[in-house]
Amino acid sequence: MLAISPTDRLFVLTGAGVSAESGIPTFRGVNGLWRNYRIEEVASPHAWRRDPRLVWEFYSMRRRVASSAKPNPAHIALTKLEQRLGDRLFLCTQNVDDLHEQAGSVRVVHMHGELFKSRCDSCNRPPFGDTALYDPPADLPRCKCGGGIRPHICWFGEVPFELERIFRSLDECSIFMAVGTSGVVEPAASFVAHVGGRVRTIYVGAEEPANATAFTECLIGKAGEILPALLPT
Ligand code: APR
Ligand code: ZN
Repeated sequence: MLAISPTDRLFVLTGAGVSAESGIPTFRGVNGLWRNYRIEEVASPHAWRRDPRLVWEFYSMRRRVASSAKPNPAHIALTKLEQRLGDRLFLCTQNVDDLHEQAGSVRVVHMHGELFKSRCDSCNRPPFGDTALYDPPADLPRCKCGGGIRPHICWFGEVPFELERIFRSLDECSIFMAVGTSGVVEPAASFVAHVGGRVRTIYVGAEEPANATAFTECLIGKAGEILPALLPT
């Protein structure tokens, strides 16, 4: 069981591994998404300019998979931790699915955006809830301003969301935990180095991440099995 003092502040970073047991494919694993799709063809501003239909087919497929997924014990353990710690827990996810919210987590920071939101690629109307499947995209969705409606996702080459708030919480935390992330995509992969030796750093995941040496301890296994035993409820 993770010892958390009454003054400890936790920063938890989750990646695709936390949703794996809910049936949502990871990116770089055996059946990872990047085995079947090329990032530059479906998840970059260049891809959007070049072939928005293919981009919407990719995100419609991901919406279809995620909408039939249910939270697993890892998500539920993190919800219980939030209920216990309140604002002493900062939950930052790289995932764009809504399983943390479905499990009951209230304060979730989606640094890579959200699958069930879209936004305009031209004007600055705020992102809006959108579960539509544009697949096959007969006619692509357009904004009143004439711009194209795109997935509210941070693509490769774009700046992740809420970084200021994220780094403030990193500086305030006394325990840093990463769950189910291969530690290869920046800036999330460097969060553990950012907190450095100042705090206790724990990794929970199915295999050692690329940044394993930066963690005080690595607990290897399934998040849905480790987190319920590790986190106080
Ligand atoms: N429990 C815990 N960890 C698991 C499980 C599981 N059941 N199954 C797989 N994992 C681990 C894998 O060992 C791997 O280290 O989850 C990690 C998933 O790594 P990636 O597929 O690279 O996903 P992630 O690290 O979240 O990717 C980061 O890359 O493609 C971009 O924007 C996308 O947010 C994504 C970012
Ligand atoms: Zn617009």
